[in-house]
Amino acid sequence: LLVAAALFVAAFLLGSIPWGLIISKVFYHTDLREHGSGNIGTTNAIRTMGKVGGYAVFVLDFGKGLLSGLLAWAFAWNFLPGAGLVPGALVSYDTMLAVAFLGCTWGHIFSPWLGFKGGKGIAVAVGCLFVTFGWVGACLELLLFAVLVVTTKHVSVGSIAAAVACPFFALYFFWGDWIAWACCTLAALTVIWAHRSNIKRLMSGEESKIGSRS
Ligand code: G3P
Repeated sequence: LLVAAALFVAAFLLGSIPWGLIISKVFYHTDLREHGSGNIGTTNAIRTMGKVGGYAVFVLDFGKGLLSGLLAWAFAWNFLPGAGLVPGALVSYDTMLAVAFLGCTWGHIFSPWLGFKGGKGIAVAVGCLFVTFGWVGACLELLLFAVLVVTTKHVSVGSIAAAVACPFFALYFFWGDWIAWACCTLAALTVIWAHRSNIKRLMSGEESKIGSRS
């Protein structure tokens, strides 16, 4: 349990690095939070800084998610050798993967460096899901996201749909490991909660479409 807690803290700290804000301040001499939706994630970074800055934010946010997932493997292999093979072990390898997913997503959304505020968790979550669910699960999530973004022209609709699907994917991948499932579901619910302003704008028809700068 201590190993899982240490992994959570490490993933949380990794997730908390606010790359969007850092890139906007260092390279564009502006504060991303004062533009567009005010979010520090990829969508608002592209909207505000253009493709180069936006994609850089995506790569870095995705990267910290991926690294958190890899950290789960490193922790599991080093500190819990064989735990993944023990039926009914309190903390299985699957639990570790899901704990890293929850930690980095929460770190990004509740960054202590930004007064426990932050982004909406999509790029970081997808990065981590490549390890937590594996590439097939992560690609299916991405496909769902892409189909909805292309058909609705709202990035947030794709993001929310991917978050809604997450507990169902987790049921498939982690059937029987209810702690792992709960961690994934908690992360997904937090991502949906982080999109509450988008949901309000979608309902009032004011949500921005891709390509718009507001
Ligand atoms: O991943 C964030 C996206 O779903 C919405 O971003 O800036 O339009 O609120 P934004």
